[in-house]
Amino acid sequence: MPAATPTVVRYRYADLGDDAGYAAWRDWKLRQAPASIDDLIVEVQDPRRLSASERTALIERCRRANMAIYASACGDDPDKDIPRKLGLQLGLSALDHNWLADDDGITSLAVNADGAHPFYIPYTDRPIHWHTDGYYNPPERQIRGLLLHCVHPAAEGGENALCDPEMAYILLRDADPAHIAALMLPDAMVIPAREGDGEVVRQDSVGPVFSVDPESRALHMRYTARTRSIRWRDDPAVAAAVRSLEGLLAGASPCIYRARLERVMGLVSNNVLHDRAGFRDLPGRQARLLYRARYYQRIAET
Ligand SMILES: [Fe+2]
Repeated sequence: MPAATPTVVRYRYADLGDDAGYAAWRDWKLRQAPASIDDLIVEVQDPRRLSASERTALIERCRRANMAIYASACGDDPDKDIPRKLGLQLGLSALDHNWLADDDGITSLAVNADGAHPFYIPYTDRPIHWHTDGYYNPPERQIRGLLLHCVHPAAEGGENALCDPEMAYILLRDADPAHIAALMLPDAMVIPAREGDGEVVRQDSVGPVFSVDPESRALHMRYTARTRSIRWRDDPAVAAAVRSLEGLLAGASPCIYRARLERVMGLVSNNVLHDRAGFRDLPGRQARLLYRARYYQRIAET
């Protein structure tokens, strides 16, 4: 019998005066938090056809930590139907067709020397700093669900660090509730417009770091640790909050999990904070290939 799926407890994240409500939610969240990366891993036979208990186990972890890792024994089949069908079973269908995504909306992340790819870090072997996906997207295209599916790991490296945004919220609020107020300001973080061939291809992206999704009432996070092509609101409270968040993510907090996605492993998540270590492909070994799917929906039942 699979463990009963815990009820999702929501908090009114913007209510910084509700100390009792916050304490109750914080207590629930910390009690539920996975003790280690192993608690996040669910073995599944075939991601394309989850059993009821496999699906429940994935959703149960996403309710606790906004993420789960699946490990399957179905071989290194490069079929994109694997992540696509897995997503559908978790309520993820509305794919974001981002710049440089493949035609089907699922992006092949591999070292790619073609065209514009080498100018974008995801298509190189370089490390990527902490971020949530689509932090530069406009408000109507916020990324709520993120799925990563590993076809082949790198010969060396390529680990991910992972952090539940709700845990980041708790640690920041415990440090100083003013950090949360600052990061909820509607113009806290600006990603300047992107230009190509002398034209603006994406407008300035202006928004908060933390916000509350109006439909689900879930906490949403928009963040990048990049230091170039970003404008933080000119405000000492925002600067202090950003420093605090950077310090939290640079440390060895128990809320940061580290994992390397191996062959036919993957991450399903409500777009949690993550980074990627640099990696090396070696001659004679299959090059690292991950599929990435970004969705406008959150994982079902979370
Ligand atoms: Fe990412």
